[in-house]
Amino acid sequence: MKVLGIESSCDETACAIVEDGKTILSNVVATQIPFHTVYNGVVPEIASRKHTEWILPVVKQALCEANLTLEDIDGIACTNRPGLMGSLLVGLTFAKTLAWATAKPFVAVNHMLGHLYAAHLSNDITYPYLGLLVSGGHSIICKVSEFDDIEVLGTTIDDAVGEAFDKVAKFYNLGYPGGVAIDRLAKNGNPKAAHFPMPNIDKQNRAGNISEGIAAHRYDVSYSGLKTAAINQIDQFWNPDFERTNENIAAAFQETAVKILLSRLFRAVEDTGFTTIVAGGGVAANSRLREMLAAEKGLTCVFPPLKLCTDNGAMIAGLGYQYLSRGETSPWTVNASARVQGFRKNGRE
Ligand code: KG4
Ligand code: ZN
Repeated sequence: MKVLGIESSCDETACAIVEDGKTILSNVVATQIPFHTVYNGVVPEIASRKHTEWILPVVKQALCEANLTLEDIDGIACTNRPGLMGSLLVGLTFAKTLAWATAKPFVAVNHMLGHLYAAHLSNDITYPYLGLLVSGGHSIICKVSEFDDIEVLGTTIDDAVGEAFDKVAKFYNLGYPGGVAIDRLAKNGNPKAAHFPMPNIDKQNRAGNISEGIAAHRYDVSYSGLKTAAINQIDQFWNPDFERTNENIAAAFQETAVKILLSRLFRAVEDTGFTTIVAGGGVAANSRLREMLAAEKGLTCVFPPLKLCTDNGAMIAGLGYQYLSRGETSPWTVNASARVQGFRKNGRE
């Protein structure tokens, strides 16, 4: 079964064709990065306009690179949440219209489940495992029993990890996208140049008060403290033995950002006894995160190839195949949503 997958939730207009949820026949990603670089962040209105301009040529290119025509396609999948509303609506409306006009089965899928599926495209992974979903908008540690059966253990209580990378990079003018720039600079910096604090949220209840014994945030992460420390309080945490270079700032920030994630992930490993970890999302491309996880004995860590960590249509086509091959489709009335709702169970509307 050949599924055409469309992804337009943020700033990449992407389309891929994947056979039987595994074999990538084509994978076209038209990145809008040059249009947003000048603003050091994604401008939603520019993003939706570019999606509108590019969606048709990108889908045509995906068919051309796979050496296929629309008649060869057995089903169409598209991201419908979470993401920027305007961006999502372009891809979703295009995908529904294409499926309706060609009378092909259609399924709307969850972008974050797509990120999780990315590792499955190039690896045979057995369930259950722990998922680490880290992107510009989300930081999720979850138990995964099936591609659509997920229990969220922890998430961020404030900023997402990728967002923290982006904001720190923006403040210090390190480059865009921030995560990529920090990762690159950090290779020539020293992580000991600053000692940024780790969040201390374990015993806070949901209202932010300390309540003895109730570990409300056992697996949750927080990045607003690190972000503030790196941007507004750097003098306080800087190690005077080091020069204040961009490389050193990047290395010290990245080290703490990764440690925060791993501290919660390793707790989940301990508590669940799961030893397989599957990562996904843009931050899963981070070289320090990959290095530190690989060094952990007794764990099997599966990462998607770099190209499949950031947004792409292949993960959407692959995930779409899983639903369509079970005969599950979405109604034409299915809408886009900025939120991740429906993620905990099934991930499909
Ligand atoms: O998954 P993604 O492409 O889009 C969302 O769904 O958000 O993730 C984008 C995020 C951005 O915050 C970007 O800075 C971050 O992933 N990112 C990285 C790296 N590559 C991308 N963060 C750290 N290290 C990287 N190498
Ligand atoms: Zn994404």
